[in-house]
Amino acid sequence: MTIRPDRHRTAPTLTRALLGWLLIPLVFLLGVSAYTTYRNAYHLAETERDLVLEEITDDLKELVSSARERNRQIDPESLAFSLLIRDARDLRYFAVYDASGTLLAGDRRLTRMWTGTGSDKHAIFGDVSLDGRKWRRAAIKGSREELPGFEIQVAETMVRRDRLTLHLLRGVLVPQAIVLILSIPLIWFGVRRGLRPLEELRRRITRRSAQDLDAIPADGAPRELLPVVTALNDLLSRVRAAQKEQRRFTADAAHQIKTPLAVLTAELDLARTDTSCPCAQPTFSRLQKATSRLAHLVSQLLALAHSETNESKVHVLFDLSELAREVTGDFVAAAASRRIDLGFEGDEQAIPVRGNVILLREAMKNLLDNALKFTPEGGTVTVSIQACPPTFSVADSGPGIPEAELPLIFQRFHRAPESSTTEGSGLGLAIVQEVARKHGAIVTAGKSALGGALFEFRFEGDAVSQS
Ligand SMILES: Nc1ncnc2c1ncn2[C@@H]1O[C@H](COP(=O)(O)OP(=O)(O)OP(=O)(O)O)[C@@H](O)[C@H]1O
Ligand SMILES: [Mg+2]
Repeated sequence: MTIRPDRHRTAPTLTRALLGWLLIPLVFLLGVSAYTTYRNAYHLAETERDLVLEEITDDLKELVSSARERNRQIDPESLAFSLLIRDARDLRYFAVYDASGTLLAGDRRLTRMWTGTGSDKHAIFGDVSLDGRKWRRAAIKGSREELPGFEIQVAETMVRRDRLTLHLLRGVLVPQAIVLILSIPLIWFGVRRGLRPLEELRRRITRRSAQDLDAIPADGAPRELLPVVTALNDLLSRVRAAQKEQRRFTADAAHQIKTPLAVLTAELDLARTDTSCPCAQPTFSRLQKATSRLAHLVSQLLALAHSETNESKVHVLFDLSELAREVTGDFVAAAASRRIDLGFEGDEQAIPVRGNVILLREAMKNLLDNALKFTPEGGTVTVSIQACPPTFSVADSGPGIPEAELPLIFQRFHRAPESSTTEGSGLGLAIVQEVARKHGAIVTAGKSALGGALFEFRFEGDAVSQS
């Protein structure tokens, strides 16, 4: 199953989930903190302003008391009254009631508050709604000697209280919000750093080729990831075992087919020498061709199975130059039979490389076989070697490989439609690629200077011997 890229993009990520789980509770905590801060600020502002309101009410009581002493009317227009009642931000109303409940001065809407309970010394407070706004008022009782049974009330709007509440709230919430905002990139950074081992594990797995089923190294993986790595390695080992079984089956089957095939070929050879039955000769000849094709397929299947087994990992130090000359020499006769000019280019000096000689010989043979097979009679095939980096290449003057075929020719059993007239099973380049993979080498196909195909087998990394 393949994951479609668009679905991949919308899939939940661990980073997003962790950020969510950290930030949502933080925002919730900020909300709780805002609510409790508001409650505290409101309470503080109320206490503060109530004290001020009580003082004003007290001062008003003094004014009323001194007016009564001098047997004068209470004059709300007097300077002293104005100074007490006027304020730059809030509106203030007042009311003075005598013992009989008669309003001596002030606003009638401020109905009496005093019910008889409570100490005479302290003011009582309450909220009242006037002119469509909420007001806070304080009422104080007159003293028994000077103002017996009097009630003095002062009410004020909530502007100063609201401002004070807001001020206190801002003083706490703004720094908290700044801390929260600053913590977002820090949390993001922390989450990314924390998830780095996961990213490293992902990179290790995605870097692998489909054929690499070796265990994933668990070194450096945090303890939480170890069960995942262990489970993955477990799975890999089971896949490896299943694959090994399958390869062994292919190798065994190919091997088993080899013997009857050899018998069949020998019998056909014998039958062809029998001149007593001339009309059967064309059939024998067709049978012989089919048998040799089958024999080629079986030997390619065996070579592929061999190149894929783990035992083929055994690497020794050898001379690439010598091996290339040897394999090229094996093809001289075949090239001559088709009047192909088979050349060799490269210095005499040895090119030490570490690898599996049997497999590399098989790869070279396949590249040379292709070059000779696809190049028309009278053409040219050149084998060349290079020391740095160790490279083995085969160029030919044949038809070359169409651009569109280049990504496909290394697939098993793939043959370009143009090659349908030539014999082959389509396994040769798959073997070459498998051998290259086993050696950490790179095999590329392209256009040669001779006008045909060019195949390069380049060693890299560990295979390149320092000796
Ligand atoms: N030198 C070349 N010139 C032109 N086409 C090539 C050359 N080498 C490979 N090809 C193309 O790549 C295809 C795959 O090559 P590969 O060696 O895998 O298979 P094959 O030669 O057809 O069969 P086999 O090697 O199993 O006998 C070929 O069928 C051919 O189309
Ligand atoms: Mg081939």
